Amino acid sequence: MQVTRLTPQFGAAVTGVDLGHLDDAQFAALKQVWHQHRGLLAFPRQHLSDDGLLVFSRRIGQLDSPPNQEHGRQSPEGYPDIYVVSNVKDNAGRPIGALGDGEAVWHTDMSYESKPPLASMLTAREIPASGGDTWFCDMTGAYEDLPQALKQRIATLKVKHDGTYNSGGFLRAGVTPIDNPELAPGMLHPAVIRIPETGDAVLYLGRRRMSYISGLSLADSEALLDELWKYPVAEHRIYKHKWQVGDLVLWDNRTTMHRRDPFPPTERRIMHRTQIKGEAAPAAYGG
Ligand SMILES: [Fe+2]
Repeated sequence: MQVTRLTPQFGAAVTGVDLGHLDDAQFAALKQVWHQHRGLLAFPRQHLSDDGLLVFSRRIGQLDSPPNQEHGRQSPEGYPDIYVVSNVKDNAGRPIGALGDGEAVWHTDMSYESKPPLASMLTAREIPASGGDTWFCDMTGAYEDLPQALKQRIATLKVKHDGTYNSGGFLRAGVTPIDNPELAPGMLHPAVIRIPETGDAVLYLGRRRMSYISGLSLADSEALLDELWKYPVAEHRIYKHKWQVGDLVLWDNRTTMHRRDPFPPTERRIMHRTQIKGEAAPAAYGG
C-alpha cells in the first residue's frame, strides 16, 4: 500500500490496494491512514464493480439509505443501497440520478438528520471532458485556523442543519419550501464537535443555505455564520479532485465538506455513491 499526501495538511491518495478484496490487516491499516489524513482518501482508478463497492462499504460499517433528492431516491436496478449522482436521462427522458449538471454547493451529507452518515464514497463510472471536479475541505484545519476569541464564542453554540434543499439547490421531494432559517425545520448540532477516533476538534457547519445559530437573532446568526464560513473554504484548506473513470474517493462527513463544479449539459457524468451509517449524534467538543 502506497500513501501520498493530497495537500500538506489533509487527504491522501492510496494505491496498491484492491478495495474489493482487503484482508483484515490491510483494512486496519487503511482505517488508520484514513483518520491520520483527516478523513479524506482517494483511490485512483480502482474500478470497483457495484458489488465490490458494497463489499468495501460494508467493511467500514452498516450502509445508510440514500438521501431523498429532487426526484426522490434513485438507485441502479437491484442495488437499493447505491445512489446515483448523474445528469444522464433514460429513454423516457427521466433523470437516472440526482443533482443534474449544475454546481453543488459546499455541504456535508445529510447533516439534517439526528445521526448523519459517518462517511460517504463516490466512484466515477463516466466523467465529462471538463468540469465536474469535486472539492473537499478540511474542517479540522478550519477549526485550527479560527482566532481564539471565535473559538470561545462558538464553543457552546449549536447550528441548525436544514433539510429543505439539497446541495444542487433543488427542493427535496415532498418537502414544503420555506425561506426563513430561524423558523425552518432542521436538526441542531454543536458548532464544534469531537471526533472520538482522534480526539480532534472540528468545525461542523453542514451547509450555508438556511443555516441558523440557535439562540441568536437572525441578523447575528447570519453575521456569525458568514464569519465562520471564511475558514473552511480558504484556499489552503481545500483539495480539488479531478476525476478519472474508476476513481473512488472516500470521505468522513464529520471532518470534511465537499462541493462540485458544474459541467456542460451536453456531457455525461455518472457517479455511484454509498454511505455508512453514523452510530451516534455528533458530540460537542467541550461537552
Ligand atoms: Fe454530497
